[in-house]
Amino acid sequence: MEENNSTFLLNWLDEWTFRKRENIYEYHQFHKYPATFIPELVDKIINLYSKKGDTVLDIFSGSGTSLLEAMLLERKSIGIELNPLACLISKVKTTPIEGVDFKKEKQSLIDSIKNNKYNIVNFEKIDFWFQEEAIIELSNILGSINSIKHESFKKLALVSLSDIIRYVSFCKHSGFKMHKDQKKLEKKFKKNEIFDLFIDKLNNNINYIIHINNKIKNINATIPLIINYDSRKISDSIKKESIDLII
Ligand SMILES: C[S@@+](CC[C@H](N)C(=O)[O-])C[C@H]1O[C@@H](n2cnc3c(N)ncnc32)[C@H](O)[C@@H]1O
Repeated sequence: MEENNSTFLLNWLDEWTFRKRENIYEYHQFHKYPATFIPELVDKIINLYSKKGDTVLDIFSGSGTSLLEAMLLERKSIGIELNPLACLISKVKTTPIEGVDFKKEKQSLIDSIKNNKYNIVNFEKIDFWFQEEAIIELSNILGSINSIKHESFKKLALVSLSDIIRYVSFCKHSGFKMHKDQKKLEKKFKKNEIFDLFIDKLNNNINYIIHINNKIKNINATIPLIINYDSRKISDSIKKESIDLII
């Protein structure tokens, strides 16, 4: 009996911790975010407790793992999230981009960055968080992104830049809290190192969007509604009985 119980428990743990999964879904490697859901976990919960066409609500939707899974599983979804950056990440992550020539847009962004004509960004204590070379290079990338005309591509580029910002700053790059990482103070960037990091990330995210565009082409996908607000105060704006599953 005891052996049966422990076998049951081990099987249950295997089933719900996903520790034996081969690799996490590639398309969630879009932007780092602390304490994200295991995509397979939300996928399993959504499949178990809702059906196609239902509405799923995530009241702390963060970088949008559950919203993306809900969309791919043909559920409607609403995310509520306090952090504006998380809202931007999840919005870009779950919105297909149509009618854009990615190759052309990327090339004109690269040309603009190489032109090197943008003003250096400044804010209080910027040099506490960034070394001088990083400030110059990041300012140039940001200025070039801000001049992009195509709104969706601009947001995709902004999210890609955001994903490398902490890495190239003096800040520890995991967790919510901002701590200076003493080990990073001596780091010297090679010529074009930050530019290359940004372009690698942008390429990754362009491929991601193309992948999502293809995935939702033949399904009944609904783009999630993302509300940048405090979920403790929002109950009145969501109609009674309109939600089928809360995550
Ligand atoms: C652990 S993260 C969620 C991560 C998410 N499951 C994912 O996969 O990306 C928790 C999120 O709750 C948000 N949050 C905390 N308190 C909140 C509140 N009162 N209303 C809305 N969002 C809140 C935080 O900003 C954070 O993004």
